[in-house]
This record gives sequence, structure tokens and C-alpha cells, in this order.
Amino acid sequence: RFVTNFIADDRWKYILEGLGVTLRVTFFAVLIGIVIGFMVAVVRSTYDRTGKLKILNLFCKLYLTVIRGTPVVVQLLIIYFVIFGSSDISKTLVAVMAFGLNSGAYVAEIFRSGIMSIDNGQFEAGRSLGFNYVQTMLHIIMPQAFKNVLPALGNEFIVLLKETSVSGYIALQDLTKAGDIIRSRTYDAFMPLIAVALIYLAMVLIFTKLVNMLERRLRSSDH
Ligand code: ARG
Repeated sequence: RFVTNFIADDRWKYILEGLGVTLRVTFFAVLIGIVIGFMVAVVRSTYDRTGKLKILNLFCKLYLTVIRGTPVVVQLLIIYFVIFGSSDISKTLVAVMAFGLNSGAYVAEIFRSGIMSIDNGQFEAGRSLGFNYVQTMLHIIMPQAFKNVLPALGNEFIVLLKETSVSGYIALQDLTKAGDIIRSRTYDAFMPLIAVALIYLAMVLIFTKLVNMLERRLRSSDH
């Protein structure tokens, strides 16, 4: 009776709410990742180019090393149980912070390579227009770099969409956890888990298509 009641009442509710959590966490984590990644990349490339911001650069390096050197699920557990251990903070917020912090380290490299991909002549062009370093960065380098990294940022969204599936470790009911809850309550593993996989797959295919379209459009606007 419990099984049939659960199927009738709650299966799609769990899936849809889980999907909502997954999309929300992914979206805000990517935003945080872009902000952090951008700032870290600016510090790093400013240091590389001018030798300034030495201390800040050291902090950035430490951040990149620690975040990239440890699994995101361990970071999630530490933020939830150690840093916010005794407060009843929203799990969604913790997940957004953990995945955002994690994403920032990967996005930093995306922006860094984007900045480095801009020809040195562009820096010289800026200086010869009378721009200082900051103005050159802001008005000449960044607009071009940002355009070059847009597809990679789209990919980061796709990576995070799948990466957030470990949110269940802090009992956040994302899409994966929803499928697993249905599995445990209905004693049917196949349907809920395959359904979850298909939903991820559909989303990844859709976003991949969007990123490819964006890439093509950006390339054609180069000419
Ligand atoms: N799954 C790996 C980890 O646990 C890689 C995470 C990649 N994250 C990203 N935002 N690109 O650390």
C-alpha cells in the first residue's frame, strides 16, 4: 500500500522539485564561480605581467591549489559540517557556496587562458592610446577575452550540472537524491534512476547544443 501510494502521489513531485534544486544550485554556483574566477584571473595575470599584487597572488595560488587538489564532495562536506556545523543554514545555500567556490578555481584558469590568448600587441596598442594598465585591461583586453571564453563558461555550466549530483551527501534533495529516495521507497531501482539519468542527459544535450550555437555565432562575428 505504501508503495502504490508513494508512486501515485509523490514520484513526480520529488523529481520536479529535485530538478528545480539542481538547476538553482547550478545556476547560482556558476555565477559565483564566474565572479571568483574573474577576480582570481585578473590578480594572477596582473602579477604575471607587472609583478604587482604579490601577496594577493599568493592567496590566489593557495586557493587554486587547495580547491583543485581536493574532491568537490569533500569540500561540500567540510563547508556544511565543519564551517556551518552548528548553525541551521539552508542546504541549498551551502551547496551554492561549495560548488561556486569550487567552480571559481576552474573558471579562473578559463579566464587566465582567455586573457593570455590576447596578443601582446593589444596591450601595446592600449598603451599607445594613452591607456594605463587598468584601462587597457578594462577596455581592450577584457572584452576580447570574455568573448573568447564564453563557450568554455557554457561548458562549466554543463560540468556543474552533473557535479551537483553529489549534493545528496549533505542530504540536499537535488535531482539525483530525488531518484534515490524514490528507489528506496518503491523498491524499484530501475525506473527512478534511469529516469534521472535521462533527465540529466536531455539537459546536457540541450545546453551543449546552445554552447555550440553560441560558438558558431561568435566565430562568424569575427569576420
Ligand atoms: N569532480 C572533480 C572534483 O571532485 C572535478 C570538479 C570540477 N569542477 C568544476 N567546477 N569544473 O573535484
